[in-house]
Formats: sequence, structure tokens, C-alpha cells
Amino acid sequence: MKANEPLFIEKRIIMTPGPVEADPRVLSAMTNPIVHQFDPVFTNLMDEVKEMIRRIFKTNAEQAFAINGSARAGIEALLTAIIQKGTRVYIPIAGRFGHLLAEIAKRAGANVHTSEVALGQVHSFDTLKREMEYFKPHVVAIVHGESSTGTKQPLKELGAYCIKTGALFMVDGVATVLGEPFEMDAWNIDAAVTGSQKCLAAPAGMSLVAYNDKIKGIVDKRKKVDQGLDPSSDNPKFIASNYLDLSQLQAYWSSERLNHHTEATSMLYAIHEALRLVMLEGVDERVERHAKNMQALKRGLKSLGLEFFEDQNAGLNTITCVKVPREINAAVLKEDLIRYFNIEIAPGFGPLKDSVIRIGAMGHSSRKPNILTFLSALESLLGTYGKSIGSGTSLKAALDGYANR
Ligand SMILES: Cc1ncc(COP(=O)(O)O)c(C=O)c1O
Repeated sequence: MKANEPLFIEKRIIMTPGPVEADPRVLSAMTNPIVHQFDPVFTNLMDEVKEMIRRIFKTNAEQAFAINGSARAGIEALLTAIIQKGTRVYIPIAGRFGHLLAEIAKRAGANVHTSEVALGQVHSFDTLKREMEYFKPHVVAIVHGESSTGTKQPLKELGAYCIKTGALFMVDGVATVLGEPFEMDAWNIDAAVTGSQKCLAAPAGMSLVAYNDKIKGIVDKRKKVDQGLDPSSDNPKFIASNYLDLSQLQAYWSSERLNHHTEATSMLYAIHEALRLVMLEGVDERVERHAKNMQALKRGLKSLGLEFFEDQNAGLNTITCVKVPREINAAVLKEDLIRYFNIEIAPGFGPLKDSVIRIGAMGHSSRKPNILTFLSALESLLGTYGKSIGSGTSLKAALDGYANR
């Protein structure tokens, strides 16, 4: 280690399900000087962030803010606030991140009921309805985009059914918000969460949440402020987590400006800039960009004779999983893409570790040059592994895709 030399990290083309490339404007915003978290300059940024978060979730909910920590910080903050001992929570699982919801809900003391579909598939509404009729959940928590398998779960009918039964509806939109249509209010979603490191094109380290007055009512009833701030504050129903205590976090993000934690100043700058870039591009336009780049990517992959793992009727705009051909070693392919082309992709999770590769095109990574460079690199490597298709096949297929859209 040479302490007197600046850190230099070589730029990669990141085609993983996250983290993805951050927009250069976001990285540049992070180099601004540190100001105190109650400096009016900073609190003004916070207010603007709240408003922009409402716009990306498409909600009028008053409660919309960012929580320091990766996406699961937001998931955990919401679930630990909603769940008390024995709360009945139904979690339909379609892969690794559905399991994560169940993991967090159980740790929060919920009575969890799950149902699973085969990996690569999504739940039919009939099944969801049947499971709800059986379990009568207080809360339904579900992943919208299962990034471990590349599938998108339809939410609209489920949201309407939750209204009918009185169940609260919480959605993990980590792999979908800004990459897929996401309509928090129109789909009757009570609480939603996303992360900074995917379609928002910022580094990992902030999760964004929004929740309506039904959830706020629960949070308010559990409010307990740190003793060192208010010795008289007490509440037998207090939320188990302190760092992720929504009752104090929402007070920090309100005009009360409760001094709960030290905000991650530079990450707030990053989120503010990333959200401003979304406002500049347009929420729907960003979704369309993801759709356009993914369809070109898929055309290119298909032209190479590769097969998709996920049911194509449920495919995402943000991530796809490709079955690794028998004659190819997934770990070697991943290594070679980095070694020769500086391109990163991701392996499958758990049971899919060696059989699929996961390719993401999100945020600043969802760009035409990335798609075309990745396809060209993949095609050349497949050629060196003896799976030659004919040079330029995938590039032509992808370009045709762009031209047809
Ligand atoms: C759908 C989904 N949910 C939750 C998470 C967890 O997010 P994090 O790793 O940022 O905590 C991820 C991360 O990739 C994800 O893709």
C-alpha cells in the first residue's frame, strides 16, 4: 500500500443485477463539501428528495424519504414497524428475495405463511387469493421484480384484493422502480421500497421508502424517542430496531427534525442528484429506456442460441437470466468477461449458481453502448469456447431491435 498515491479504480462495464454503474453526475455531486444535517441547505435538499421520491413511486403519500443503508434497510424498517409479535404475514416467494422478506418478517416476530412457485415463474392471482383466504393475513409482503430469477410479479389485482380483505400490502420494488411501470397509489400499495444502486444509477447505501397514512397510523402508535433526547418518552409497543425505527426516522424527515442519527451526507447528495436526473429524463421515459435496452439485449442473446431461464411472459426490463450451455463453465465466462473486456455479470444464486448467469441493464448501465459492447464480447468468447455462431450475429439482432422500437 502506498499511502501517498490517490486511489484509482479502473472503470468497469457493469451488467449485473446491481450494483450498477452510477451516473457520473451523481458521483460528482458526492464530492460537494459536507454541511451539517440541520443546515438549511441540507434540509432543503431533504425536502426536495421527499417530493421526488413521491414522484418515482407515483404516490401522494406524505411519508416518502430515504434511509441510510442498502435496500434491505428500507425493507427491514417497514417490516419491523408493521409487525408485532404474532402479526400474520403472507409472503409469496419466487426466489432469493422473497425468502429475504420471510427471513426479516420472522426475525421481527411475525407469524409467517409462505407459498412458493418454481424458480423462473410467478404466482397466479388465483393462487394468491386462495392462500389469502386460507391464512387471512394482516399483511401481504411481496417482491415485484425477483432479481434472482428475472421475473416480474403482477401486483394490481393483488392490491385490489388486499383492499377487499383489509390486509396491508407491502412491495419490494428494488429491481423494478424506474425500470418497470410502478404505480403505488393506483395499485393500492400501502408501503413500497427501492434501493439506490439499481435503476436510480447511484451507489448502494440508501434505501427509499414511501408509505401511506394507514402505515403511518401504526408507526405513530409505536413512537418512542431515544431516552437521551426525551427522558419522558416511553411506549410498551416500541419498534424493536433503533437505527431503523420508522417512528424516529419519519420525525427526522419531518419539520420536527428529530436528531435521531447522523445522516450520510454525501449519499444524500447522491440521491438528490440521481432523482434530479430522473426528473430531467422523466419517470416513464426512464422505464421506456430500460424496456428498450432489455429487448435489444434479449434479441442479441437469443440470436446466439442462448435460452432464457425465466418465463418470458413474466420477464423483467431490468434483469434476465440465461441458461449456461452445457459445454460452457459459468465461472470461467464471468472471469473472462472481466479479464478481457472489463465487463461484469453475475452468477445465479443458490440452486442456480452454476446453471444460469444473471445479466442486468439498469440505471446508467442501461445504455445502448453497454448492450452492444456486452453482446460483442459475449459472442467472441463463445466463439473461443467453440460455440461459434457467425460474427456480428448478436450485434445485428440487437440493432434490429433498436430500429424496430
Ligand atoms: C429484489 C431485491 N430485493 C432486495 C434486495 C436487497 O437489497 P440490498 O442488497 O441492497 O440490501 C435486492 C438486492 O439485490 C433485490 O434485488
